[in-house]
Amino acid sequence: MSTIRLLSAPEARAAIADLCDVLADCVNGGASVGFMQPYGPADAELYWQSVADSVETGATLLVVAEIEGKVVGTVQIGAAQMPNQPHRGDLKKLLVQRSARGKGLARLLMTAAEREASRRGKTLLVLDTATGSEAEAIYPRLGWQRVGVIPDYAMWPEGGLCDTTLFYKRTVAD
Ligand SMILES: CC(C)(COP(=O)(O)OP(=O)(O)OC[C@H]1O[C@@H](n2cnc3c(N)ncnc32)[C@H](O)[C@@H]1OP(=O)(O)O)[C@@H](O)C(=O)NCCC(=O)NCCS
Repeated sequence: MSTIRLLSAPEARAAIADLCDVLADCVNGGASVGFMQPYGPADAELYWQSVADSVETGATLLVVAEIEGKVVGTVQIGAAQMPNQPHRGDLKKLLVQRSARGKGLARLLMTAAEREASRRGKTLLVLDTATGSEAEAIYPRLGWQRVGVIPDYAMWPEGGLCDTTLFYKRTVAD
């Protein structure tokens, strides 16, 4: 049985060890999410501490999926924008540990993140994802509109340039 919840800053800090495991597992599984291989859980600690700090200021919404009390998936909304874009949020780091995939957790995480963003007045969400990745196939199923491709945007974790595909979605108020 899975639980989806939005974390406070103290809850985010308490979950850092699990979040490190999830991120390291995804990078080692070949996901282009900002980091290069080799990448162990210890390498992820500073990153998750900065995310927890950002949760504290309200700049980031952090949603997690737990199974039996352990975090196995996560997604973030970057909520701090320039004054002329208060209605926009950046969806980031949708990650589900390999052993927990295919159970609908990404769909649940995305639904929860979109709802929380909408509640905060974020009527437009934007994301980018590696072109040709497993994730790219998922977003259209969740109602996201494909905008286009930027070539050579980032690198695969094992090396080599990868394109990125941009998506957006308008959220619906409750
Ligand atoms: C992308 C990812 C989050 C999907 O997680 P998941 O929990 O297995 O996804 P779900 O089970 O919720 O599936 C969501 C939908 O996508 C579909 N889907 C899942 N994996 C898919 C795949 N490899 N190819 C095509 N569709 C897929 C599912 O059928 C489901 O559709 P439905 O609800 O309409 O039936 C996971 O593969 C992952 O963490 N990948 C590595 C990290 C990454 O690349 N993140 C994206 C960063 S932008």
